[in-house]
Amino acid sequence: MPTDTPRLSREGYNLQRSVMRDLLRFAVDPNVISLAGGLPASECLPLDGLKECLDTVLSRDGPRALQYSPQHMGLRSWIADYMGSRGVSCTPEEIFITNGNQHGLAILSRLFLDPGEPAVIEEVTFTGIHQVTGGRDAEVRTVPTDLDSGVLVESFEEALKASPTPRLSVLITDFHNPLGVSIAEEKRAKLAGLAAKYGVPLIEDDPYAPLRFRGKAIPAIKAHDEAGIVFYLGSFSKMLAPALRLGWIVAPADLMPRITTLRESFDLESSTLYQRAVAEFVSRGMLEPHLEKITAAHGERCATMLRALDEHLSEVARWSKPDGGVFVWVSLPERLDTTEMFHQAIERQVAYIPGGVFSVDGSTKNALRLNFSNVKPEAIEEGVARLADVIRTALQA
Ligand SMILES: Cc1ncc(COP(=O)(O)O)c(C=O)c1O
Repeated sequence: MPTDTPRLSREGYNLQRSVMRDLLRFAVDPNVISLAGGLPASECLPLDGLKECLDTVLSRDGPRALQYSPQHMGLRSWIADYMGSRGVSCTPEEIFITNGNQHGLAILSRLFLDPGEPAVIEEVTFTGIHQVTGGRDAEVRTVPTDLDSGVLVESFEEALKASPTPRLSVLITDFHNPLGVSIAEEKRAKLAGLAAKYGVPLIEDDPYAPLRFRGKAIPAIKAHDEAGIVFYLGSFSKMLAPALRLGWIVAPADLMPRITTLRESFDLESSTLYQRAVAEFVSRGMLEPHLEKITAAHGERCATMLRALDEHLSEVARWSKPDGGVFVWVSLPERLDTTEMFHQAIERQVAYIPGGVFSVDGSTKNALRLNFSNVKPEAIEEGVARLADVIRTALQA
C-alpha cells in the first residue's frame, strides 16, 4: 500500500477549509445559544407541503421521477416568471438549474477564470466566494462595501479598469452575507454599466432577495443589464429549504451549451425528483404563503435582536439594521478581536461568527456576524445579553 499522499492539483492544495464551518461545530451544544448559523427559521420550513408534493410527484410520474432527465422546463418557466419580480425579463431558455448558489459560483468561476487571473470581490464577503476565487488561485482585488448603501461604485470601477482586466467580479445584492446591507437602488444601473464598459462578467449572488420583511423590493442589477454581462444567481435554499440543493443561473441562451457541458463534468444534473417536487410546490401557489409566514417570523426575530442590541450594547457597538435576510453585522471597538473572544463566548454559552473570517486580510477582526432567523425570540434576548457580558469583560481586560 502506498503511504505518501499523491501530489495534489493547485486547486486541491489551495482550497482553504471554511473557518466558519469549523466554528459552527462549537455551536451544536444544546446549551449554547447559537447566533452563528445562517439558516431560515426551522419552525417555518414547509414540511407538510413538500411531503405532499413529493407524494404527488412519485405517484403521478412513477419511475420517471427517479430517472436522469433534462432540466425541468416547468420549473425553468416558473423561475423566468419569478425573475420578473426582480425586474428581469428573461425566457426559460436563459435559466439554468443548479444545485444552489454555491454551485452557480463554482460553475461560473470555472467558466470565466483561469487559475491565477484577477477577480474582483467585496473586501468583506461570504466565505463561499473566498473559496471559489481561492480555489482558482485568483489574484483577488477587493472593493469596500458601505454599511448603508452597499459596494462602493468608484472603487468597483477602479478595480475593473486596473490592468490586467479582471475576468470575473462577484457582488451580493440584497441583505448581504455577512453585512446585512443591500446595494442602493441608484447604484445598480451603474454597476451593470461598469461591467459592460470594461467587459467583466459580473456575478450577482442574490439568495436573500425573497426574504424581505420590510420595504419595497428593488430591481436586481441584472434588471439593468443590456449587454448580457451580468450573471444572476438565485436559490431555493433560503426561500424554501437549503436541503433541496436547488438554485439557478440567469445567463444568455447562447452560453447555455457551454454552461451545461461544464456542469456535466462536475455532477451531471440536479435531482429530477426535487426539481419536480419544487415545480409542484410553486405551481400550486404554495410558495407565497410560505414566504409570508417565514418573513413574518424573521422580521419579528430581527426586531427582537435590534432591541436587545440597543438595550445591552448601544454604548460600545454599532450594527446594521437589515430589511430582510438573516444577518446583523456588529462592529465593536477596534481593540477587540472577536476571534480571540470566541472561546470566552462559548464558555458563556453563546456563539457568533467572528468578523475576520469574512475578509481576505482579516481586517474586520473587531466585528461579528449574528443570525436572527433560526433562533427563537426569548433565546435571542438571552443570547445578546450573554454576548454583552463577554464584550464588557473583554473591554475591561
Ligand atoms: C451570499 C451567499 N451566496 C451563496 C450561498 C450558498 O447558497 P446555496 O445554499 O444556494 O448554495 C450563501 C449561503 O449561505 C450565501 O450567503
